[in-house]
Amino acid sequence: MKIMLAPMEGVVDHLMRDMLTHVGGFDQCVTEFVRVVDQKLPNKTFYKLCPELHNGGKTPNGVPVRVQLLGQHPQWLAENAHTAVDLGSPGVDLNFGCPAKTVNKSKGGAVLLKETQALYDIVKAVRDAVPASQPVSAKIRLGFEDKSLAVENAIAITEAGASELVVHARTKTEGYKPPAYWDWIAKIKQNTDIPLVANGEIWNEEDGKRCQEQSACTNLMVGRGALAMPNLARCIRDGEPPMAWEDVAALLIRYSGYEIYGDKGKYYPNRIKQWCGYLKRQYPEAELLFNDIRRLSKSQEIVDVLARQASH
Ligand SMILES: Cc1cc2nc3c(=O)[nH]c(=O)nc-3n(C[C@H](O)[C@H](O)[C@H](O)COP(=O)(O)O)c2cc1C
Repeated sequence: MKIMLAPMEGVVDHLMRDMLTHVGGFDQCVTEFVRVVDQKLPNKTFYKLCPELHNGGKTPNGVPVRVQLLGQHPQWLAENAHTAVDLGSPGVDLNFGCPAKTVNKSKGGAVLLKETQALYDIVKAVRDAVPASQPVSAKIRLGFEDKSLAVENAIAITEAGASELVVHARTKTEGYKPPAYWDWIAKIKQNTDIPLVANGEIWNEEDGKRCQEQSACTNLMVGRGALAMPNLARCIRDGEPPMAWEDVAALLIRYSGYEIYGDKGKYYPNRIKQWCGYLKRQYPEAELLFNDIRRLSKSQEIVDVLARQASH
């Protein structure tokens, strides 16, 4: 079984990847998407979203981090894929699932799921541009408005030479609302031989098992679930119980050190509130903490609340 940490723009940055892979259980990470329009991006864009490139494309704990690209032009995606791999990304991932309006208006992300040929052309161009030793993976939803092209799209991506396909088991229209239709991944599996990774609505060990059964897929990707329960990957893999709140609180403090050091605290208040928002799902204590820090806008004030809580 492989467990991957999902890419989450604005949430799972290199600090969060470091933290969650430090907790453990993950085999691979994917970066937030790098938006490709009509040019070759400078190296600094790749280093910014994936500082792990300075470390051979791995987190400090040695977990590989693959750069994800989002765009619509096969040639520009191919050129930038080549750069990403050249800089040390262990392969490249293509985003065909992003629901954001701005992204879809310029024909990137999930809107491409309406155009099977476009998916084929992009994957083929990227596959041809990247050395054969480096994987080219894709991440899709089941469709844009409906699921009628789910299998066809997966076949096109396979025929274009992709090495792996992550399936977020919902359409763009279904957004992030439960349920996820894991059984559709089994349908895709019946019609392709590409290695699959099942994704969507895995919040605990039980969900992981049900997803594996219904999708007929052993490999999983988890996103929001890993933010709500930082040792989710180990719960699924080893049957470990959910991490105790005391340990989560210690992680929050550790994260505070990272974030403040990393960006002088500019983004920290929002990031920590956002993380608390996810933790509330699993830990009632996170709700209390969230209420305590909700109105605070200065990093130091938030850190003081966390430190006080830890000393209780
Ligand atoms: C805030 C947020 C940002 C996301 N950013 C990305 C992204 O950059 N690339 C991508 O392929 N998917 C992105 N996703 C989708 C997730 O990778 C994942 O497919 C989705 O959240 C379902 O998995 P989950 O139920 O385990 O969270 C994002 C999801 C959320 C909630």
